[in-house]
Amino acid sequence: MRVYNFSAGPSMLPLEVLQSAQRDMLDYNNSGMSVTEMSHRSSYYDEIHTECKALLRELLSINDKYEILLLQGGASSQFEAVPLNLLKKGRADYIVSGNFSNKAYKEAIKYGDIRLAGSSKDANFTFIPKNCEIRDDIDYLHICHNNTIFGTRYTELPKCNCPIVCDMSSSILSQEINVDDYGVIYAGAQKNLAPAGLTLVIVRRDLITNGMDICPTMMKWITQSQTESLYNTPPAFAIYMAMLNLRHIKKNGGIKSMQAYNEEKAGLLYNYIDNSDFYSNHVNVPDRSMMNVPFVTPNTDLDKKFVKLAAEAGFVSLKGHRLAGGMRASIYNSMPREGIVSLIEFMKSFESENK
Ligand SMILES: Cc1ncc(COP(=O)(O)O)c(C=O)c1O
Repeated sequence: MRVYNFSAGPSMLPLEVLQSAQRDMLDYNNSGMSVTEMSHRSSYYDEIHTECKALLRELLSINDKYEILLLQGGASSQFEAVPLNLLKKGRADYIVSGNFSNKAYKEAIKYGDIRLAGSSKDANFTFIPKNCEIRDDIDYLHICHNNTIFGTRYTELPKCNCPIVCDMSSSILSQEINVDDYGVIYAGAQKNLAPAGLTLVIVRRDLITNGMDICPTMMKWITQSQTESLYNTPPAFAIYMAMLNLRHIKKNGGIKSMQAYNEEKAGLLYNYIDNSDFYSNHVNVPDRSMMNVPFVTPNTDLDKKFVKLAAEAGFVSLKGHRLAGGMRASIYNSMPREGIVSLIEFMKSFESENK
């Protein structure tokens, strides 16, 4: 039996995508082998690589000013790659709206004059810092679009005179974005795009230079851009799965449809929580994430009981992150509406039995 998997990542993929991969597993496209076995220099793989990038370009309306890189190392490796590639004047500002942007900030301070322009740490990251003063003479501003652990999201970008570098690991492909608003977008794939192993970087071509002298060859975006992300062995199977998932998104109406679906799903869950006097969500309402919905019951014992009984009922990975406690429902693109409706039914019955 397949469960409703509310994991923050790696997370659910569409059943249709998994079934396609299953069909292809032993013999991809009459090649007589699996994608996991084939050379990344073969014509079979070349088609996958090219289609994956083309679909990303099409679905996210990425124009020619931007390069698409398909890398390894996770979003965490970009915490270092960003300063190593972008610091020229040696200065950058960071807004810390959660655990991952804090990690990005901590990596960057090793490499230059890095200033904290805003933080919601003192409020346990329950809101997105606003009206931050961004310096004028800096190489970039770094933000994290969606805070996976604490469940907040940017709805308006900070105003600044420099490129915005944005970690979109937990929101990429979930809503329409204007890529031109950003200098760099990066994302670990394991939430809305593909299995773990692939890291997507969308970078404005004029920002691709040799970077800092100490930047390792593998971390240089220029290395990967000059070789079409084939400098070394790419995460071929994850890229193939991304291609299947992107085809699926396209077939289902593209990002606009994904956004409408995600708004509806998140709306159902928040609406239920807001109208309950048993469950609550502590995030500043306008900053609420559409992808990660943290919530609590009246006490931590009940939280534990909830997570246990929910798992037994087929709603798995609802335990909140250790830094946030309580529960968290990660409801990425692939979580079906029925998953939310069934979860709400379970929440109702848990409430009536434990009130
Ligand atoms: C917003 C955000 N940034 C960065 C990361 C780290 O990603 P990775 O595990 O791919 O390094 C995560 C992982 O959950 C995340 O949610």
